[in-house]
Amino acid sequence: MKVFALFTAIASVIATATAQSATISLPANGTVIASGATFTIQLEQGDFPENVNQVGIALGLAPCQYIDCNTYDASQEIGNLLYAGPFNPQFGPGGPPSAEPFENFTVQAPSGVSGAYALSLTQLELIGDGYERVYLVSNIIVEIQ
Ligand SMILES: *[C@@H]1O[C@H](CO)[C@@H](O)[C@H](O)[C@H]1NC(C)=O
Ligand SMILES: *[C@@H]1O[C@H](CO)[C@@H](O)[C@H](O)[C@H]1NC(C)=O
Repeated sequence: MKVFALFTAIASVIATATAQSATISLPANGTVIASGATFTIQLEQGDFPENVNQVGIALGLAPCQYIDCNTYDASQEIGNLLYAGPFNPQFGPGGPPSAEPFENFTVQAPSGVSGAYALSLTQLELIGDGYERVYLVSNIIVEIQ
């Protein structure tokens, strides 16, 4: 019984950790971006009733020529750093389809490059009264031309 309760507790912690993490809602996976162009990265934060302390995020573009973009993880480099700093998602107009709190970041693609790149999000947040650490790394793939 106790073991079962423990597994249930762990499963619910994992489930909530996923629900309250941010995802890249724009650009869409596979989007083509012109080299040197300014574009918007929209991050959608899964809403969560507990206190969430956003420590910060990093956004970057790493060439798939050198890393495996399909198995991107925290051990791989961010590459071209597009943004590092605070994350302050808010409810409001111009948000993601699911009406979650979000934030737009305007960034610039590197110039004079082309090919597939991992557009990655690294996020650290602290959840609830005990400041549970949630560290997340995710990515989509974009094509720079
Ligand atoms: C966020 O970016 C999207 C895409 O560029 C835009 O449609 C939306 O209006 C922006 N929202 C805000 C609040 O800036
Ligand atoms: C993005 O598209 C690639 C290629 O189709 C796919 O392998 C990958 O799983 C997709 N990533 C996401 C986050 O949907």
